[in-house]
Amino acid sequence: MNPFWSAFVIFISVAMMIGCLWLLFANARGKPGESTGHVWDDTLREYNNPLPRWWLNLFVLTVLFGAGYLLLYPGLGNFGGWLGWSSHQQMQRHLEQLTRQSHLAYAALAGKDIPALARDPSALSLGRAVFLNNCAGCHGADARGAIGFPNLTDGDWLYGGTPDKLVETITRGRHGVMPSFKVVLKPEQLQALVDFVPYWSDPELPVLRRAAGVKQFTVTCAPCHGADGKGNPLIGAPNLTDDIWLFGGGRERVRETILGGRQSTMPAWDGTLSRDEIRVVAAYVYSLSHQQDAAP
Ligand code: HEC
Ligand code: HEC
Repeated sequence: MNPFWSAFVIFISVAMMIGCLWLLFANARGKPGESTGHVWDDTLREYNNPLPRWWLNLFVLTVLFGAGYLLLYPGLGNFGGWLGWSSHQQMQRHLEQLTRQSHLAYAALAGKDIPALARDPSALSLGRAVFLNNCAGCHGADARGAIGFPNLTDGDWLYGGTPDKLVETITRGRHGVMPSFKVVLKPEQLQALVDFVPYWSDPELPVLRRAAGVKQFTVTCAPCHGADGKGNPLIGAPNLTDDIWLFGGGRERVRETILGGRQSTMPAWDGTLSRDEIRVVAAYVYSLSHQQDAAP
C-alpha cells in the first residue's frame, strides 16, 4: 500500500472508533423517566431512559479490545503491529517444520531396499500420499488402471515388476509403441489374427483357427510379442496369452489395435519427484502386488 492509502485507512479506522464512542456517550445522557414528547395512539409514550450500565461497559470494552488488537497485530494500513506477527511468517514457520519432519521421516528410511520399504507402514503411507498426488489421475486411486493405463495391482507387468524395474519405469518414464498394420496385412491375414489373438488362452478355440492365427502371428507379430505371445518387457510389448488386456480384449478392440496401432506414454518423474519420493512410491506400487508379504 502506498503511504497515502495507508494513512487514509488509518485515519478512517481511528475516526470510526472515536465516532463509535462519541455516538455512545452522546446518546447515553438521558434521565430515567424523561419523556421525548413523542406519543402514539394516544397512550404510547417514548422515554429517553439511559442505556443499562453493563451494556455500556461492554460496548466500551469492545472498542478498547479493537484498539488493543490494532496496536498489537497488523490491521492499520501499513502498520505491522507491535508483536510483528504476519500470516506469511506463520506459514513459513509451519512449512519449515513440515520440511524438517519429512526430512526426518525419509532419513529413517535411508538404506532400506524396496521390498523392506514395502513392509514398512510409515514408508507405505508416504508412498501412498505420493501416489495419490501424482499417479492416481492416470492409474486410478486404487491403482487398478483403466483402458490404456495399466493395472498396477495384478502382478502382470509390461516392463517388469522387480524393484529395479519399477524404479526405472518411474524415474525415466516409458513409451510403448505398437505400429499400425493397416497397409501391411491382407484382409484374410487380419481376419486370421482377429479370430485367434483374443482367444489365445481359450482351450476351446478350434485347432484350425489356432493354427492359422499362429502362422500369421509368427510372421508379423512374434518379433515384438515373442513366438509364444508372452510379450517383451524390454519394449513393453504385452503378454497376449494371459487374458489381461490393456486396451480391452475381444475381436473389435484387437482389430482396432492391429489396424490403428497403439502408443502410450508413462511420464518420467525424475526431477518432479525426489529420489526418496520415487523410492517410497515404488515401494507402495510393489506392495500392491505383493500383498502377502506387505505390511498390514
Ligand atoms: C499421464 C498418465 C500417467 C501418470 C500421471 C502416471 N502414469 Fe504410470 N503409466 C502410464 C501409462 C500410459 C503406462 C503404460 C505405458 C506403456 O504402455 O508403455 C504407465 C506405466 C506405468 C508402470 C509400468 C507398468 C507395467 O506394467 O510395467 C508403472 C510401474 C507406473 N506406470 C507407475 C506410475 C507411478 C508410480 C506414477 C506416479 C509417480 C505414474 N505411473 C504416473 C500413465 C501414467
Ligand atoms: C514393433 C513391435 C510390435 C509389433 C511388431 C507388434 N506389436 Fe502389438 N504391441 C506392441 C507394444 C509395444 C504394445 C503396447 C502398446 C502400448 O502400450 O501402448 C502392443 C500392444 C498390442 C495389443 C494390445 C494388448 C492389450 O493388452 O490390450 C495387441 C492386441 C497387440 N499388440 C497385438 C499385436 C499383433 C496381433 C501384432 C501383429 C500383427 C502385433 N501386436 C505386432 C508392440 C508390437
